[in-house]
Amino acid sequence: MKFFIDTANLDQIREAQALGVLDGVTTNPSLMAKEGIAGKENILNHYLQICEIVDGDVSAEVISTDYEGMIKEGEELAALHPQIVVKVPIIKDGIKAIKYFSSKGIRTNCTLVFSAGQALLAAKAGATYVSPFIGRLDDNSVDGVELIGQIVDMYNYYEFDTKVLAASIRHTMHIIKCMEMGADVATCPLSAILGLLKHPLTDIGLKQFIDDYNKLNK
Ligand code: G3P
Repeated sequence: MKFFIDTANLDQIREAQALGVLDGVTTNPSLMAKEGIAGKENILNHYLQICEIVDGDVSAEVISTDYEGMIKEGEELAALHPQIVVKVPIIKDGIKAIKYFSSKGIRTNCTLVFSAGQALLAAKAGATYVSPFIGRLDDNSVDGVELIGQIVDMYNYYEFDTKVLAASIRHTMHIIKCMEMGADVATCPLSAILGLLKHPLTDIGLKQFIDDYNKLNK
């Protein structure tokens, strides 16, 4: 399973990259706004900076909600850097745009997916990734991880090439459960990635090793 980091914060992206286990980055307009990135030139420049930090795919989202606007924005984003994946919402014009991008060899991440039916349309349109938002489903008393399993099974059964990118991940158990379900990618906040390191027995065991060494090696 690949690890993407779900942020536009350059320091966090650098920290995750330095761990050596980072496979890519996902952003969205809210995450860009959180970093205070505004204005077309600044936004494009920020994506370029992210691409320089990481080796893998970097999802950059279109703002337009009409077909023509999405095509214009998406082509511009894709031309910015080979690592860019154009993030497109699962709406009617979004599906048309994904189909167009797919025919032009432009990679896409179909976002704001909350049902298997939406994931089916995204795959049929040729999306490179589909992003089910599991945390937001959980927030609404629907099991987000279950949806991941449903989509993975559907894609495997029909041999779709679209990769399942579990998004809106909030904590380490989401990552573990997505792994069990066979998600191709989990995009996570840095806290959830680092949270995987935590175990009290590791801390206790390490302290014991160091203490025992120090008893005879002072
Ligand atoms: O990038 C999209 C997604 O991961 C958003 O997560 O936490 O805002 O639901 P969240």
